[in-house]
Amino acid sequence: MFSSERTDPYSPPIEHLQLQAESPVARLDWPGRGEIWTVTKHEDVRTMLVDTRFSSDREDPRHPAHVAYNPATHHGQLIEMDPPVHTTLRGRIMNEFTVKRIAAMRPKIEQVVTEAIDAMLASGNEGDLVALLALPVPSLVISDLLKVPDEDHVFFQEHSAKFSGEGTQEERIAAITAIRSYIAGMVDERIATPGDDILSRQLAAGSTREEVIGLGFLLLIAGHETTANQIALSIMTLLDKPELMQQLRDDISLVPNAVEELLRYFTIAESGGLRLALADIEVHGVTIPEGATVWALENTANRDPDVFPDPHKIDFTRGARNHVAFGFGPHQCLGQNVARLELVVVLEEVIKRLPDLRLTVPVSELTFKNMGNFGPHKLPVAW
Ligand code: HEM
Repeated sequence: MFSSERTDPYSPPIEHLQLQAESPVARLDWPGRGEIWTVTKHEDVRTMLVDTRFSSDREDPRHPAHVAYNPATHHGQLIEMDPPVHTTLRGRIMNEFTVKRIAAMRPKIEQVVTEAIDAMLASGNEGDLVALLALPVPSLVISDLLKVPDEDHVFFQEHSAKFSGEGTQEERIAAITAIRSYIAGMVDERIATPGDDILSRQLAAGSTREEVIGLGFLLLIAGHETTANQIALSIMTLLDKPELMQQLRDDISLVPNAVEELLRYFTIAESGGLRLALADIEVHGVTIPEGATVWALENTANRDPDVFPDPHKIDFTRGARNHVAFGFGPHQCLGQNVARLELVVVLEEVIKRLPDLRLTVPVSELTFKNMGNFGPHKLPVAW
């Protein structure tokens, strides 16, 4: 029987690790949803994710994450498309996310993080690190990327926090609707008066209004809660395991490696590897039938002992860059260099500026969001 629920924040579900050891390609009952095929070895996950016969097309009613299209509320997004449309749209946007372009964002990211920590220090000496730092930083970075005017940052941040953070389903839907119509308004402005920004450049390259709205919205949702969760989990780990924090204090140049290792360790984008088989496809000697729901379990692949020796140990000296926390193949995370830079700057600044930062409740008492993006609801800290 399949369940994707983690019971220990530091580990993939034990059953998934067992599958990897005993049955790397498995067919299981998925309660309430029929059956599911799981793929758990690192090599097989990569093989599967580059093969576009494993479809991401959520317009196909057989897709496990099928969304009923309603043009009034839904604009197709890269992440839920297959070639050839995906290839064309991704080809147009790739250039915006090169390592060089993203490295140029460093001063802005430093400013955002510095100001968030300044506000935290000014607010007292304890609070929730998710609300104070983890959620605002990626929201402000994406606002900058999309050139959201300064006066709208508060609106953008409040609404994106509502749909990425805690809150009722109604609040989430209201926030999504508000952001979606805000982005549609931005795109209409760019159609009327093109500027020097990502959205205008996509329009100039031939993308339609609907495609650009879908892109703007995807950049926001794909880059907000994910990065916020990874920031929160990374800081939680350093506070919970003081020997790791000390290692970074002793040698701050290890931070980029630590970021990579923590991405591997937590692999927070839980449903990233969900696909629909469009043909009978053999993986690891097993034929997965056409029409099957298939899940490349990236979290488990990132603990594959054949690729990461002693995989359950957090080791900042390990070269973990071949992890699949950002996926693999044509849909591999477009914003991975943005996320890496945010994580590096946040950890460096927290280490330098918050020497007394500590958890005020043990990790065992924290509650976590499961299914979708993994991360703590709250991270109560004092400083
Ligand atoms: C720690 C932070 C992040 C994690 C773990 C993460 C993870 C992922 C994963 C696993 C995928 C592949 C999904 C699939 O195969 O279907 C993905 C796709 C994507 N991510 Fe990220 N992401 C992060 C941050 C970001 C940021 C900051 C941005 C934007 C600024 C972003 C934009 C995107 C986009 C646009 C896609 C879709 C690409 C495509 O389908 O061609 N992500 N991400």
